[in-house]
Amino acid sequence: MNFAVFCSGQGTNLQAIIDAVRQKRLKARLALVVCDNPKAFAISRARRASIPVAVFDPKDFPSKKEMESAMIRELSARKIGLIALAGYMRILSDGFVRRYRNRIINIHPALLPAFKGGQAIKDAIQYGVKVTGPTVHFVTEEVDGGPIILQEACPVKDNDTEKTLLARVHKLEHKLYPEAIGLFARGKLTVRGRKVIVK
Ligand code: GRF
Repeated sequence: MNFAVFCSGQGTNLQAIIDAVRQKRLKARLALVVCDNPKAFAISRARRASIPVAVFDPKDFPSKKEMESAMIRELSARKIGLIALAGYMRILSDGFVRRYRNRIINIHPALLPAFKGGQAIKDAIQYGVKVTGPTVHFVTEEVDGGPIILQEACPVKDNDTEKTLLARVHKLEHKLYPEAIGLFARGKLTVRGRKVIVK
């Protein structure tokens, strides 16, 4: 199975996926990295690993619709069967999500449905929860609201800062995301309503 990773920034999850593919822990082909930010460090990671990169910068397109049409052309040409969002900071349109129904997954740095949105680490600390951790889920039209594939918990310590907690959550993300992609690639995931059955 060919898959694409979409990212916007640092790309530590992308790196974990690249490493898992290289070490054959993940048996799927990372055929494309899509990025919306030409300055993202994730692009350097992909280039270093000789993975094709496609930059879709909204500034280069008259509308979101046209940008997504160009993305779809690229994804189709490369026969992409799964899109893994890894810190991709844009909301995909309902049309795009419908087109790739149950073929787009995302990783979120909190135990959904807690702490949706872009500040999950900060929100978890401020709320005072004792555990948190990453969630891998299918992407639906509702942001951070799709069926959950995998979750893993870690403690939140009294003296945690955003930096220390993010490091703990990232460690789990880097293990969980390649695992989830592998399950998808091996046909082990079935979506039944809100539930994902993992065979
Ligand atoms: C991750 O923490 C992920 O949960 C969230 O965005 C972050 C991306 O980090 N969706 P990176 O670019 O993979 O380092």
